[in-house]
Amino acid sequence: MATKPEEAVRHTPPVDAAAPLPDLGSERISGERFHSREWMDLEWTRMWRRVWNMACRESDLPEPGDTFTYTLGKESFVFVRGHDRRIRGFYNVCQHRGNQLMLNGEGCGHVESFQCGYHGWQWNIEGVLQHIPDVETYPQFQDGVPAHTLGMEPIETDIWAGWVFFRMEPGGESLLEFLDPLPSHLDTYQIGKWDIVDYKTFEWPCNWKAACDAFNESYHFQALHPQMMQWSNGMAIVELLGIHSRMVNEYGTADPRYPDQEKPGPELQVYMGMRGMVPDPGWTPKDVRLEIQRQKRAVQDVVTYLPYRNMHDEQLSDVYHYTFFPNVSWNVTSESITGFRYRPHPTDPNLCYYDLIIMAHYPPDAPKPEYTHRVIPKDKLPRSYRDVLDMDLNPIISKVLEQDGANLGAVQQGLSSDGFRGMVLCDQELRVRLFHNVLADYVEGRR
Ligand code: FES
Ligand SMILES: [Fe+2]
Repeated sequence: MATKPEEAVRHTPPVDAAAPLPDLGSERISGERFHSREWMDLEWTRMWRRVWNMACRESDLPEPGDTFTYTLGKESFVFVRGHDRRIRGFYNVCQHRGNQLMLNGEGCGHVESFQCGYHGWQWNIEGVLQHIPDVETYPQFQDGVPAHTLGMEPIETDIWAGWVFFRMEPGGESLLEFLDPLPSHLDTYQIGKWDIVDYKTFEWPCNWKAACDAFNESYHFQALHPQMMQWSNGMAIVELLGIHSRMVNEYGTADPRYPDQEKPGPELQVYMGMRGMVPDPGWTPKDVRLEIQRQKRAVQDVVTYLPYRNMHDEQLSDVYHYTFFPNVSWNVTSESITGFRYRPHPTDPNLCYYDLIIMAHYPPDAPKPEYTHRVIPKDKLPRSYRDVLDMDLNPIISKVLEQDGANLGAVQQGLSSDGFRGMVLCDQELRVRLFHNVLADYVEGRR
């Protein structure tokens, strides 16, 4: 029997701190797009309907009939695995009089068939109409039911790295073309094998783009998260990758602007504690980061399910923050992803849903992590995000998210103010500018 050739490993391109930044212009970006309903509507028809959106994990629907219901803006969608094991996506709507077919909110479920709770129309798990009660009372069906015009309304779906993506308007770039070059950057991590450890949704009092912008730059570390200066370098290397982008922050070391470069501050000591590192009294903050790299390199042939050997030293210590246009950001480390997805509110541009989705790479025989997805409304936002998570999120990471979330209500109010003359962006915020340029290209008809 022929042996399978060793799969070619695509290594993550190294970051190049010396690469010149492209010129994306320097004009102000007005606040209108954050609060105007007209912008919100145009965004829906010209952008959201035409891009590939990330929905759920393939593993959320392991067996035929398993479903996942997902909301984006005003729409609800249902994904279902068919008898042929293919995952299909449909609008969650009955073609009789518009009731929703799946009524229990978002997340996983199972059906033998889709049966509408209003009058009982029924479709199979491939979305084909199967039954209309009292069909003889429809004069328009006297010559037979035109089942092909009454199927569930499909949406395009495709899968990358175990994630199910969908697009409302068919045609245009394939999923891989749309995501390019992110798949080639992320192949090394083998994300298809990873599991979601926790998933919670927070209703935040801001436009989805204000939330997205807040995670697309590190310029705000020093003012909003001053404690981070002890354990991460806010002077990130920024790279634009087509419509997507990445920034890389050194972690496990002090920001060069932090006054004490001689010994690890208390927050960096907590960071070391998270990794079970016993501090050597002689270590500077720089040594801590190098020690993290050294420790992982030392076990790369022992802990073989983690592909350390295919990673650059920087990938072992630093956070590679990837933003997938339009609404997903991943803080990628060598073992886990703290992921964010920003979803527009169905009707109000001043609100959004912030999905916190944490993934990890476990040994192949480890039990699957258990979590329950919940939506936390804006009047019930916790003081500590740790209080609503199922997993034990490290307190120093939780504190950062709390600071980001608590800030955004005021940002939204300011962006909507008549006194605001538009965003003035520096090079550290170049990814914010790229995001808004690409969005404007969609909304204003250039893309
Ligand atoms: S609305 Fe679904 S069967 Fe009538
Ligand atoms: Fe932040």
